[in-house]
Amino acid sequence: MSNTALSASSPPPIAEAAEHLRAGRLVGFPTETVYGLGGDATSDRAVARIFDAKERPRFNPLIIHLPDLEAARKLVEFTPEARRLADLFWPGPLTLVLPRRADCRVSLLASAGLDTLAVRVPGHPLAQALLRAFARPIATPSANRSGRVSPTLAEHVRSELGDRVALVLDGGPCRVGIESTVLDLSRELPTLLRPGGVAQEALEGVLGPIASAPNVEDSIARPSPGMLASHYAPSIPVRLEALAPTPDEAWLGFGAVPPGIRAPDLQLSESGDPIEAAARLFAALRSLDRPPFTRIAVMPIPEAGLGAAINDRLRRAAAPRPGA
Ligand code: TXA
Ligand code: MG
Repeated sequence: MSNTALSASSPPPIAEAAEHLRAGRLVGFPTETVYGLGGDATSDRAVARIFDAKERPRFNPLIIHLPDLEAARKLVEFTPEARRLADLFWPGPLTLVLPRRADCRVSLLASAGLDTLAVRVPGHPLAQALLRAFARPIATPSANRSGRVSPTLAEHVRSELGDRVALVLDGGPCRVGIESTVLDLSRELPTLLRPGGVAQEALEGVLGPIASAPNVEDSIARPSPGMLASHYAPSIPVRLEALAPTPDEAWLGFGAVPPGIRAPDLQLSESGDPIEAAARLFAALRSLDRPPFTRIAVMPIPEAGLGAAINDRLRRAAAPRPGA
């Protein structure tokens, strides 16, 4: 089995990747948000392999990736609202949770036994090429070990998953850098389950006010397992809203650093742009997660636009770890 991250300059081996998927193996591929770990969504065995490779709890369902709305409509019941959002935001960083159709052929394991399914149409050309070559739905969580920082480069996938993945398609750095927004349209009120690459304000511009899922404890049933309090975590602790670093802290900047404070070890965005910051966030957390640093201190980031998604990930990265 070939296990190399192919360079972005050689032609991407789409046919080979599709062949691995057909054989029930797992493939890493870029989306515009983060790199995904793909497996045949219609195969219980392939889906089980995804959970094993990520060491992911089986109650945490997967997003099903599709090439277009037409393909998504074969799996879930679209409401008029869902249709409007799909027309506006697909392909793109928006995941919709909708009722499974009775004839849906996706493995029940992928949706963790729920009667809903999360569907998304990614915009990245390599993701699109793979979805079309494979011609079946691809179950695709982020290509990191469960609870860790999502990968935004092909190398990250390799270091997270090693030979648990048959092949990694290299599309360079992910443009958005933060996972898709997960919106549940199967309830009475549209409910935001995970802030992400499409800002809540943009969705509310179409739907009107949307509810936020209540914050739930780790130990009880939760509406979206991505809401686990500790998630997206580097191995060293993270300190938020920091106005100055201590000497042993890595210093992650956002916008202008107050006078007299040392220059950041890394900047999310010098100009204070949340879109730029989202694109850099996960790679920055990875690269500061090393000695001599004992903690990562992050400057405050305003909540507007993608700031909400960034702060959501940072709060989870900073949350107390189970067993820690
Ligand atoms: O940007 C993304 O969404 C990336 C790329 C690879 O597409 N994928 C991703 O997948 O972030 P994952 O598995 O890391 O996160 C999926 C999120 C989890 O929070 C999961 O609980 C939620 O979607 N989810 C999946 N199916 C669901 C369902 N039926 N109901 C509620 N939440 C669901
Ligand atoms: Mg994930």
